[in-house]
Amino acid sequence: MFITFEGIEGCGKTTQISLLAESLSRLGVACIATREPGGTAIGEAIRAIFLHCSNDDMLPVTELLLVTAARAQHIAQVIKPRLSSGAIVLCDRYIDATVAYQGYAAGLGRETVMRSHDLFAGSLMPELTLLLDCPVELGLARSRKRNRATGKHLDEGRFEDRDYAFHEQVRNGYLEQARHEPARIELIRAEGTPDDIHQRIVSAVLPRLRGAGHAV
Ligand code: TMP
Repeated sequence: MFITFEGIEGCGKTTQISLLAESLSRLGVACIATREPGGTAIGEAIRAIFLHCSNDDMLPVTELLLVTAARAQHIAQVIKPRLSSGAIVLCDRYIDATVAYQGYAAGLGRETVMRSHDLFAGSLMPELTLLLDCPVELGLARSRKRNRATGKHLDEGRFEDRDYAFHEQVRNGYLEQARHEPARIELIRAEGTPDDIHQRIVSAVLPRLRGAGHAV
């Protein structure tokens, strides 16, 4: 089963992927956690270019081509082989991020993004997407606090540095996709403690795993 985590900056998805991976391991379910852009050596090299603050003149179309190239590599080298071996793949961002950031917020449109996914990434879609939703103010406050602690913004802050209106468009883009595909995209309220959010995620994931034949 292929499960993706999505949401605005600071929605807490990275923490939640680790918590879910631990819970699934305790239940004896094999899973791997990976991320986009990234997840392969080539994908991580693309990520460094894609997110570096010094590349702020990057065109939206260049962004789309870079993330799609990283995704094609990731699908072929990591996602498909792991799914074939029976593992659950937990991925930190995937195609919905491209639709929200490049399609909605940067203005390329959903159609263009999905066409590029069909042409170059084999149209592979997740079975389940957990959309961690919180107000932009809360997400940005969390991500800025984390950045002060880790220095992440220095190398990877190109999008986090954008203004409030950009992040509001990203959030609206995600919510629009959730309306489009309610069977695949589960909206998770990303407010409260990490444990509160984890419990909501477990409640959304376990019935799906049972439906897919896992004894959990
Ligand atoms: P993150 O891994 O900390 O979430 O950072 C990834 C950043 O890359 C985040 O700002 C969203 C952005 N991004 C896109 O703009 N398009 C994409 O397709 C993906 C996967 C990420």
